[in-house]
Amino acid sequence: MRTHHCNELRAGNIDETVSLTGWVNSTRDHGGVIFIDLRDREGLTQVVFRPDDSKEAAQLSHSLREEDVIQVSGLVAARFQTDEIDSTNADLLTGEIEIIAKELVIINKAEVLPFQLDKELSNEDLRLKHRYLDLRRPRLARNLRQRHLITKAARDHLSEQGFIEVETPILSKATPEGARDFLVPSRINPGKFYALPQAPQQYKQMLMVAGVEKYFQIARCFRDEDLRADRQPEFSQIDIEASFVDQEDIIGLVEGMLSSMFEEARGVKVPTPFERLTWHDAMNRFGSDKPERRIGMEMIDLSEELKDCEFRVFSGVIGNGGVVKAINAKGFADISTGQIDKLTKLAQEAGAKGLAYIQARDLDRSTWRSPFVKRMTDEEIEALRTRLNIEPGDLILFAADQWQPACEVLGRIRLEVASLQNLLQENTELDFLWVTEFPLLAYDEEEGRYVAVHHPFTRPLKEDEEKLRKGELDGLRAQAYDVVLNGYELGGGSIRIHESELQSSMFKALGISDEEANTEFAHILEAFKFGAPPHGGIALGLDRVVMLACQEESIREVIAFPKNNKGGEIMTSSPGTATPTALRDLRIKSTYLEKPKSE
Ligand code: AMO
Ligand code: AMP
Repeated sequence: MRTHHCNELRAGNIDETVSLTGWVNSTRDHGGVIFIDLRDREGLTQVVFRPDDSKEAAQLSHSLREEDVIQVSGLVAARFQTDEIDSTNADLLTGEIEIIAKELVIINKAEVLPFQLDKELSNEDLRLKHRYLDLRRPRLARNLRQRHLITKAARDHLSEQGFIEVETPILSKATPEGARDFLVPSRINPGKFYALPQAPQQYKQMLMVAGVEKYFQIARCFRDEDLRADRQPEFSQIDIEASFVDQEDIIGLVEGMLSSMFEEARGVKVPTPFERLTWHDAMNRFGSDKPERRIGMEMIDLSEELKDCEFRVFSGVIGNGGVVKAINAKGFADISTGQIDKLTKLAQEAGAKGLAYIQARDLDRSTWRSPFVKRMTDEEIEALRTRLNIEPGDLILFAADQWQPACEVLGRIRLEVASLQNLLQENTELDFLWVTEFPLLAYDEEEGRYVAVHHPFTRPLKEDEEKLRKGELDGLRAQAYDVVLNGYELGGGSIRIHESELQSSMFKALGISDEEANTEFAHILEAFKFGAPPHGGIALGLDRVVMLACQEESIREVIAFPKNNKGGEIMTSSPGTATPTALRDLRIKSTYLEKPKSE
């Protein structure tokens, strides 16, 4: 239907006869001469309808409205240009030419759109209801294409390294760890349910036992958890597993892959290797296992300097084995009382008792605004000045608690301060890093047992292996690693347990009984008895990678048909109801679907 696309014709094509197809992006009537910008996915071309060139086409062109689908044939001509008037458009690659229309076919008329495509729209539900229109916008169209290129770069890189893509089941089995599962009733097996995979974790390990050695998959994953800007109930992973590898092999592979993906998307070379931080350092210095380092404000431990402080909030916590940590928010001394209150509330929501602060308007301590500074000695003040590099105009914020909660609270505050100060506006820097040596287990107070920090198949550090076997579970570290970009966890993985006996110890540590392990995980424990190679892997959140590559703030902007914040897909109104017949076939009693009377 066309000879060229709408971003193809240049001055070199002048006098050629061409046909273009696409959507009417805009129309202008200049005294009976109609100008339209014709759009297809590649760009825009200007078309002119003059009665002198073709009476019929010109007449028909008066009826054109935005988003009509048309086919135009005509002659490529130079745009009008004299010393006084210049109608060329330097912003368009096709801006030197226009098409003198000879023939016009209106292929399909468009009704008035529910929203304008060239304006930002804050009503996201309206955008999602008409997602097919939303996706016509240049930004989203670009995101879709970037996603394709980035995914292709990953596939190409992995293929070149000898990895093969293998599909694993979507209808699979529930596992007790992790997020809540989505369940699918089985009609043929009444009362039984498939679970949609939260990740292909067990299958990819089975593929290692099968001798595949180098596996990858662009895998759909499903987790029934609360939605956030960087979380969807269904999302995609670049899922990787390899045999006869150690942590360094996986890290090297992923650095190469990410750098080729970002080179494809941003056209810049990402320097490798990425820096590394142990989990402990990341928490200690930035209060997060996915540190955003571009905002500075490293946390300083002042426990030694303040242990005898007269301000009991500090010395009391330190006396109890806790710590006092502080950050210096440079130039933020004039923070409003409202903002201080907001930060304090945030700290309290995160579990802190309060948020101590000093507004250091000047160097002289008598000018400092703070609820407790008067109770400090000159030596203590001097120590604060030097350790925190206090300069006139700085704001100092403190957390006093046991080490981990103090780090976590101040880590949250640090991010909030950066957002109040707009520290990252227009920052396009890419700060990749690895976080390593995660704890293997974390004690869950509510459940009264240990849970896996990564997942139950993660291998402890070599020096901690014996302790796991003996059931000494405190402080075990894992051969686990996360790759982080600009404060987002892009991906996480680990070297795995490949021995049946060590895996049993791990299940035991997690409070999974032998009986449960032998029914739920029989396949793993058994497979490991038939010659399982040492193996490890990682999964990267593809949606997050693309979001960051496209400088978007939500993964919804890089997913063609995302779910809204209630987990619904508005365009098709999913999830929907089921007919009584369908429910009967699945042996689901419709009474379960009625609202309980108390509601
Ligand atoms: P993990 O659970 O850390 O590891 O997931 C890996 C990566 O997937 C992305 N991700 C998500 N993206 C969007 N929406 C979500 N709800 C969501 N949840 C996770 C994140 C995360 O880093 N099987 C292991 C990997 C392994 O050990 O090989 C796993 O799934 O970017
Ligand atoms: P108080 O002496 O209790 O009025 O507290 C003085 C200041 O210390 C207030 O700004 C509190 O928010 C803050 N504060 C109280 N407990 C803590 C804590 N555990 N960590 C940091 N600041 C705290």
